[in-house]
Amino acid sequence: MNYHQMKLKELREELKKRGLKGHSSLKKAQMIEYLLTGIRPLKTTVKQMDYREMRNKELRSELKKRGLNGYSSLKKVQMIEYLSTGIHPLKNDQISATVANGDIRESSSDSIGYSPTLFRGSEKLPVNQIISGDCLKIMRSFPDKAFDCCITDPPFNMSKKKGLGWAFSSHVTMQEQWDIFAEDDYFQFTVDWIREVLRVLKTNGNLFIFGSFHCIFTIGFILQNLFDRRIISQLVWYKPNAQPNITCRMFTESTEFIIWAVNNESKKAKNWTFNYEVMKAMNNDKQMRNMWEIPITKRSEKKYGKHPSQKPLAVVNRLVLAGTNEGDLILDPFSGTGTTAVVAQENKRKWIMIEKEEVYNQIAQERIDELSNMLFESASEKD
Ligand SMILES: C[S@@+](CC[C@H](N)C(=O)[O-])C[C@H]1O[C@@H](n2cnc3c(N)ncnc32)[C@H](O)[C@@H]1O
Repeated sequence: MNYHQMKLKELREELKKRGLKGHSSLKKAQMIEYLLTGIRPLKTTVKQMDYREMRNKELRSELKKRGLNGYSSLKKVQMIEYLSTGIHPLKNDQISATVANGDIRESSSDSIGYSPTLFRGSEKLPVNQIISGDCLKIMRSFPDKAFDCCITDPPFNMSKKKGLGWAFSSHVTMQEQWDIFAEDDYFQFTVDWIREVLRVLKTNGNLFIFGSFHCIFTIGFILQNLFDRRIISQLVWYKPNAQPNITCRMFTESTEFIIWAVNNESKKAKNWTFNYEVMKAMNNDKQMRNMWEIPITKRSEKKYGKHPSQKPLAVVNRLVLAGTNEGDLILDPFSGTGTTAVVAQENKRKWIMIEKEEVYNQIAQERIDELSNMLFESASEKD
């Protein structure tokens, strides 16, 4: 059934038929979400309102409707922030509580410094910094439409099985706590973080999400069916030197996928960034295809410490060069060892990384610092 083509009345009838209660106040997108997931959506809408296009009067009435008090003396930009985050922009104690789990790590290179009011407007975003903490909580404190692009490599939900198995091209079994979910929890977790990413990403901004067969179908379903986002390509990263399969009961796993989606409804998506000529030039002046043969992460890229799913710089480099321009702001909410930040910085893009494991943040920081030192040294040589 294509719920997107159904009228409101038909959607209501379908919900009723399926015994899904409490749908009378839901908007169309929420009814679709409810039908697809069987989980009643929260009051926040799937499709976020564009507050910037609203008048002050409309913003005030929206704040009132949502029970967000104390808005009478706020300016437009503050009202938008209040609506986006649910946090009163002039009350610092609330802000501190929100970022309680988000300890800001400053990049020694291009730091803008930390203050408790850091996330209160796009001009105060923690640009070129790694934030330690849960990405859902942290993203909720970012304003709408702040990022040009999101490149991310989320947990793949593949760590459950015991014994030998495939672990991102090594014989080591993945049993990382951050990658273990009950089936339903993984689905809900993925809906939640994608919803937040879509909110903080600009309209028509690029979204690149890594995945293996364990999760890529779930991610694709959520983007396409739940959020009606336009998928432009599926990229295949082929690893010519992937480790052999030791069980000999299946094909040797040697690919990962990247879904490239644009942050707009599928029919409305337009003007997304794609640096066609840059890609062509990288491919001996032939059109770049969607299958990339790139070896697994080199040992030299892991000198500051190991991560079970660190991505090669070469793969992320293509994404950054294809899907962003100099000066763009890139988000990675599952930053691991900061591969996205390293590539972004090398290519003069701005970035914000979020990662909950401190040990990976330390590795990321060292990688970024090394890059800054190299730039500093080459600048000194020129002087
Ligand atoms: C697949 S790895 C990313 C690896 C990264 N691409 C790299 O090259 O190093 C996913 C990362 O997400 C982190 N993570 C998992 N759940 C998280 C959450 N809720 N908030 C922030 N980070 C999380 C994990 O600790 C893990 O490092």
